[in-house]
Order: sequence, then C-alpha cells, then structure tokens
Amino acid sequence: MEEATFTVASQQEDFEGTGYVAVEKIGPLDTPNEGINRLAQELIEHHDKRTTHMAPEIMNLDVVDVYGNEERHRAEVALFKRIPLVIGVSAEMREPGSFKTLNMLGLPLLITRDKAGVLHTFLNACTHRGAPLTNQPCGKAARFTCPYHAWTFGNDGGLIAVNSSDQFGDVDKSSKGLVELPCTEKAGLIFAILTPGLELDVDAFYEGMLDEIARYGYEDWHYLGTMDVKAANWKFGVEGFLETYHVPVLHKTTLNQIASGGRPPAQAFQSFGPHMRFVTATGQALEDMRSVDPKDYWTRELNNFRAIYNLFPNVAVPTGFDVIQIMTMIPGATPGEHTTIFHHITPKAPETEDEAAQLELNRQALVRIIVDEDYYINALVQQVANGDASFPLMFGRNEVGLQHFHKSLNWFLDGDANAPRPEISTSTHK
Ligand code: FES
Ligand SMILES: [Fe+2]
Repeated sequence: MEEATFTVASQQEDFEGTGYVAVEKIGPLDTPNEGINRLAQELIEHHDKRTTHMAPEIMNLDVVDVYGNEERHRAEVALFKRIPLVIGVSAEMREPGSFKTLNMLGLPLLITRDKAGVLHTFLNACTHRGAPLTNQPCGKAARFTCPYHAWTFGNDGGLIAVNSSDQFGDVDKSSKGLVELPCTEKAGLIFAILTPGLELDVDAFYEGMLDEIARYGYEDWHYLGTMDVKAANWKFGVEGFLETYHVPVLHKTTLNQIASGGRPPAQAFQSFGPHMRFVTATGQALEDMRSVDPKDYWTRELNNFRAIYNLFPNVAVPTGFDVIQIMTMIPGATPGEHTTIFHHITPKAPETEDEAAQLELNRQALVRIIVDEDYYINALVQQVANGDASFPLMFGRNEVGLQHFHKSLNWFLDGDANAPRPEISTSTHK
C-alpha cells in the first residue's frame, strides 16, 4: 500500500471567522472498508464529470402538510415512541455509577450505568407516587433517594428501601423497581425505545450501519460536553445534514471554506434501509488522491474526504473533524418546534489549557454555524409552514438524501410493512 502522506488536511482546516482551528490530527482509520472505497470512487467520478449523486426525478412535498400539520406531527411523535432512538453517547457516562437525566418527547428519563457497567434507561419516576428521583442533569450515584417520601432505589433500578415501611403496608420490593425501557449501546451511541416491553435490536434496525460507525471508535473518544438548541420543525434540522447543495450559498463565509468554493461539493450516497451515509470532499482534496490505488481509498477517509451519517429518523453524525458533533433532533410539543441535542467528542483529552480552550471554541463554532445559518433559515420556512397558504416544496434530483429521508419517513408513517421500501440506487453518474 502506498504510504499515506496527508498533504491535505483541508477536511478540517481552519475556517476563517468561525473560530474553528483543528487541535488533533485525525485518521487514517485502520481497517479497509469496501463500502467507503466504492463511495470514494463514485465521488471522484462525480468530481471528474462535474456531476453528483442524482435521484431519478424531482420530488414534491406540501410545505404545510409536512412541517406544519398537527396531525402529522402527532403521528411522527407516535412513530418516535415505537422505534430505537439515540438518547446519548457512551463517552458521556463511561464510569460505572454514572447517570444522566433527560426529557425525551415529554418523558422524563433516568439513564444509569450500574456497577457492572451495564446501561439502563428508566422512567425518572418513583414507583411510589411518581416523583422524579433526581433533577440533576448528570452525576454519579449508587442509589437514588426520592425527594418526596424517601424511597430508595439502586442504580440498577431495584427498590432498596421503603421509608417507614412498618406504616406503609406490605410492599413486594422485588416487583416495584423503576419502570425500565429497552436500552443498549453500540458504536459509542446509547439507544432506547421509549415504550416498555418493545424489542430493541439495533443490529436489525440500523441494518449494518452501526458496524460502519463503530470503525471510528467514538466510545473511546473524550467527551467535551452537550448543548441543547431550540429551533423549528425537527425535519429541517435533519435535512441540513443530508445535502451539500446549500453549503456554498448558505454557508458561503463559513463551512464553504472546507467545501468547494462555489459549486456544491459532489456527494455519493449509500442507504442502509432508511438510514444512510454519504461522502463528500473539496475538489482539491480529491485531486490530491489521484495517485492513490482505488483499493486504498479508505486510507484517505477523514483526511481527503469525509462521511456524514444519518441514523433514521433524527440523528446526524458528520465525521472528519477533530470535534465530532452527534446531533439528535427531538420533536417538540408542536410541529414548529424541536430541540437539537448536541454531544461533542474529540479523539483524546486535551493536554494543555490552550488545547482545551481551542476545543471549546471549536464546538461553539460548529454550533454557531448551525444556529446562525441553518436554523435561522429554517425558522423563516417554518413561518410559511405554520400558515394557510400552502404550496409544494421541491426536492431536487441532487437532493437524493432528502428524498430518501422523506420517502422512508412516509413509509414508516403509512405503516404498511408490505409496501416496497425506499432505496437509494447507486450513483447513476448521469
Ligand atoms: S413519590 Fe417517591 S417516595 Fe413517594
Ligand atoms: Fe448547513
């Protein structure tokens, strides 16, 4: 194999004015990857032909129906409660005894790692009369004592003690543990289903994509922190990470400096059922791969091109930065609001105060671009979606990721398991 030189670190070079300056060198990964080789090959072909991955035709969706309709919103929230969701990252609670709380779709959750290292997700609700066991956002605790009448639970959910039990009456403690939700972790991500008793099989649901994400080793990365941002409909948040068409325009003075200087960067997509990833790169970074044997393209991932992952329905993970954002878009109470939860991780703990300060600036910069540019525009489109004057929005042939997202979402909402499943066909190069 040719020695990788990485003259182009431009996939995460400074972008002027944003405050982002790479601290850590990233890549190369250590495992050959067929899918990545093929996507890189397609990307280079697109670059050479000045094409991109195209859908067969333009798709239309009514702006009010999709982003403003209350009934549809309720159906989406109901769907979210039936399928696996990302509720956190392994790096934020690596130690046995760690816990965190969060509110997801109105449900208060308590997530713990017990002393054996096993993760649990519980309703953050005491089985006596429903009080939350803690209101701390995160911490370490072997047990939780309810603030209402002082029942005590272990971090494995078991009821340990009933206060003044001689007065309360007989309680079968073994059956009054916290209400537990299906929960697991893989590839550095924590998953749960918000309905007790449903089967959680992430390998089946994500159709192999978690094995692809596992290559990055995010469970061993250093946790920088979390941020919440309130914005418009959750689907707008997802869409921002499924096309590069907007990058040279909306992000003209920020992200575009790592893009292509004018033309939308080419994309090559791969679907895993409703989930997908695509690769993209600057033209220059692809030029710098000319001498690489196509079977070794994977050695240039992260440095010459990057993959962006979309875990259906609501998670975006753009790779190829030394500060990775794992973003989950959580629907709000109405169609016009959602919360993006950002988790930021970096390959290793900073060694100096300067490094720590720069990493903090980097994560702030990444969030600021999204809030000031993407979410600013999204809020304006939401005003249209909230109104009565409807019209069809168009998703172009070059917006193949958005088409797949909406087709997949419609497939789930229709609820007909026998209907053909949406797929992204391999780049057509037309
Ligand atoms: S509600 Fe928790 S002890 Fe009463
Ligand atoms: Fe964007």
